[in-house]
Amino acid sequence: MSSCHKKAYITTPIYYVNDIAHIGHAYTTIIADTLARYSRMSGLDTYFLTGTDEHGQKIEEAAKSRGKSTQAYADEISATFKDLWDEFGISYDKFIRTTDADHMKGVQKAFSVMHDNGDIYKDVYKGHYCISCETFFPESQLVDGEFCPECGKPTTIVEEESYFFKLSAYQDKLLAWYKENPDCILPKSKRNEVIRFVEGGLNDLSITRTSFDWGVKLPANLNDPKHVMYVWLDALMNYVTALGYGNDEANMDFWPARVHLIGKDILRFHAVYWPAFLMSLGLPMPKHIAAHGWWTRDGEKMSKSKGNVVDPREVANAYGLDNFRYFMLREVPFGGDGDFSQKALIDRINSDLGNDLGNLLNRLIGMSGKYFEGKVDSSNVSKYYQEELNEVHDSLDKLEPLIFDMQIHRYLEELWRPLSVANKSIDKYQPWTLMKEGKEEEAMALNGLIAGILAKVAIMLYPVMPEVCTKISAALHFTIDNDTWNRMIKGTNLPETFTLEKIEPLFPRVEEPLLEQAEPIDKKEEEKKPEQKSKQKTESKKEEGIALIGIDQFFQTSLKVGTVVKAEEVPKSKKLLLLQVDVGEEEPRQVVAGIKEWYSADDMLDTQVCVVANLKPAKLMGYKSEGMLLAAKDENGLCMIRPEKPKTAGTPIG
Ligand code: MSP
Repeated sequence: MSSCHKKAYITTPIYYVNDIAHIGHAYTTIIADTLARYSRMSGLDTYFLTGTDEHGQKIEEAAKSRGKSTQAYADEISATFKDLWDEFGISYDKFIRTTDADHMKGVQKAFSVMHDNGDIYKDVYKGHYCISCETFFPESQLVDGEFCPECGKPTTIVEEESYFFKLSAYQDKLLAWYKENPDCILPKSKRNEVIRFVEGGLNDLSITRTSFDWGVKLPANLNDPKHVMYVWLDALMNYVTALGYGNDEANMDFWPARVHLIGKDILRFHAVYWPAFLMSLGLPMPKHIAAHGWWTRDGEKMSKSKGNVVDPREVANAYGLDNFRYFMLREVPFGGDGDFSQKALIDRINSDLGNDLGNLLNRLIGMSGKYFEGKVDSSNVSKYYQEELNEVHDSLDKLEPLIFDMQIHRYLEELWRPLSVANKSIDKYQPWTLMKEGKEEEAMALNGLIAGILAKVAIMLYPVMPEVCTKISAALHFTIDNDTWNRMIKGTNLPETFTLEKIEPLFPRVEEPLLEQAEPIDKKEEEKKPEQKSKQKTESKKEEGIALIGIDQFFQTSLKVGTVVKAEEVPKSKKLLLLQVDVGEEEPRQVVAGIKEWYSADDMLDTQVCVVANLKPAKLMGYKSEGMLLAAKDENGLCMIRPEKPKTAGTPIG
């Protein structure tokens, strides 16, 4: 992201009010909140918008099925989103609702502008509409001539008078915009998808409906009261009406948005329709549209009928809000899909947070209390620990570009490097030995190095874990704000002194899952008496020679379809091939596979494989391997396990 724009306008999608919030919604909002906090801390004038999307047939039907008036129903669900974000301390500046009078007035204004400049015309729409996705689809895209290609639900045939937006007229301008702005859509792989779609040709877009009523009416001068606006036109406009477009324009100087955060499922609306609308309105383009991946639970798509939807409030209450925030942002590369499993969350808490960060703070508090009455003086750090300082600064320098490039998982990974420097320094220099040897100055400098690292990490981690980092800064007696950010992060000097205060452990160890697991599928199995179960277990264990596992355990393994995009031999190895495998993430994974006796690099190139995608990375002959391929081997040799038909890279297997 460029830094010339001193204002930072950050948005989430506005959430449909036909459902309550789940972790997918929380994920988008937490990323946006992290960016907004970072922007503010780094001195940018920041405006953070979220809200609810309340019009359209889907909402009208949801209200009807519950026997409520549409407005009352929308009020109720909108409030549940707002309450959750307030409870989560989400630092939004405005919560917009598309039923707000100002918003509706702004949308009408936009419609008039686009109409007056000749981009809107009236015709008859005939085609298929998916109410669930609020999207029109041409016949050629339907599954079996009837079903929605996105969600699989039946579409309805619509034939009605409609106003159209001349989307087709914007094809070249859109392509030029994507081309001239290589990071307008993040991750970059998504930009290619959008370009391919637009190059395929754009149809004009039907932007009004007459078959229902729950939407923004057309401007009065068009005198066409039976039409309401297409919900996506209405919804997308929220990004400018929230700033006063069509009303007082009070905050329009925040436009263009620095980043619209969205999920990958709504990329087309944001990367094709929205820029075209903006071009028609004569407004500048957003700087970035950043699309994240999809969350599943224990490897499965979340759905109400399966009863496996993860409630973000429950997770935050059980494991701590900041821990949950850290997990979501650290666990998944931005743009890739993520799996929510309690095991993965617990591992992150106990390992990254407890061992690497929490223990470090405890050790520092302990050492400085024991040897120096809680005081830390950092004046001699560079005298003894210049090499360590260099590594810390090198790491900190890399952070800002990463966060603004939406590589938040790498940002966190990089931020753990200084922690590792600190932890290793304690083991290497052993302050207790230094004290025994009378090297007090050196021991104090070591404490200074560690306190400095903890302070810097607390500042840079603050946007992700605001509550925890405020506690760390309190223990070190400083405040995290733009001043300290400038001094400790932008300036290279470590602060001179800290006074340390004892605090409660930040990350008590989690020994077992704290949330109830999803219901076992085979209830009868669960109802058997314990003796009966264990007998059966040992018998079949004897038969098979392997232990039985539950479905939950099975789903702890993330299996994915991968496409081999590069294959080469590992030099000097008889057995190993070095493969780059696309598993639907931003970048291909490197996998070192012991299959050279049976497959050449050429054999493997462009083929599909099944990848174990959540193995801890390992090194083989000096090459990092970030996955394992499934294969079967008997006395006749080895063969790869592959999907029977081509599948999109990253498709979960299970
Ligand atoms: N109302 C539209 C957005 C209009 S923006 C002008 C909408 N709403 S939504 O409530 O259905 O989805 C909102 C966001 O939640 C989307 O970005 C979507 O990707 C995200 N998620 C919904 N379920 C999700 C997961 N299971 N995982 C990750 N995010 C997903 O679309």
